[in-house]
Amino acid sequence: MKNSGRIVAGVLAPHPPHLVYAENPPQNEPRAECGWEELRWGYERLRKSLSSEEFDVILVHTPHWRTVVGHHMLGVPHFKGISVDPVFPHLFRYNYDLKVDVELAEAIAAEGKSQGLQTSLMRNPKFRVDYGTIISCHLTHPTWDKPIVSISSNAAADYFSTDVGQQEMIALGHATRAAIEKSGRKALLLSSCSLSHRHFTEEPQVPEDMTYEHIYNHNQYLWDMRMLKMMRAGESKRVIAEMPDFTDQAISETRAGSLTWLLAAMNFPTTPATVHAYGTVIGTGNAIVEWRL
Ligand SMILES: [Fe+2]
Repeated sequence: MKNSGRIVAGVLAPHPPHLVYAENPPQNEPRAECGWEELRWGYERLRKSLSSEEFDVILVHTPHWRTVVGHHMLGVPHFKGISVDPVFPHLFRYNYDLKVDVELAEAIAAEGKSQGLQTSLMRNPKFRVDYGTIISCHLTHPTWDKPIVSISSNAAADYFSTDVGQQEMIALGHATRAAIEKSGRKALLLSSCSLSHRHFTEEPQVPEDMTYEHIYNHNQYLWDMRMLKMMRAGESKRVIAEMPDFTDQAISETRAGSLTWLLAAMNFPTTPATVHAYGTVIGTGNAIVEWRL
């Protein structure tokens, strides 16, 4: 294995199925008129920004592949199938066809093990890849011409506490970074999660009717703004310090550990992050945030 691999950029890349639905890509069956433009145009700005950077592989940590024992990585070179969102099957029925960087996935699993984590590879070729992985990857890099590494979210935060869950994800982030550096790869990292996550319980008749879309809870909005302010100031260690409180009080999807993993893998960057967009989807807070290293 070569050395001198590196993380070229890290992105908070949330995965509301509504954004893919509103984009109308050929892979997704349902058709939309429009909707959630601020976030979709934010992803457009992200793609434009990333187009100046060469990378070999996309790594994504996803809340919707939940594993109870340890951290799992996709370990088959090619997956093809249809992904249906269980809550929004009328918005997201997506035909995916993706390649996996199995060598790097194995290296992360081995590195994690050597640092005391439980890890394993998903070797079932019929495994249905989760929609958190697919949506973040699609919105960030819709040409699907790069292999990916998808990492499950271990449920330590639910079985023990948010603090224990966070320690697990910091260790996983360090292992991920070490494996990338040894691999010689230039890697783009995606944290596939929303910020605050209280959502509507009723859907409008036309899902993309934007007269219904709005911030749902002022306290959660304030928490989201507080987190984004710290990211924009390059205070990622403070983000980590406040993450357990944020996660509990804003019912945030960061509970799955994706954002902690990302910040740890980037070694808690002090460079200011770029917020490409903030907006709600069924009331949940979503930000597209880029760190260039
Ligand atoms: Fe989600």
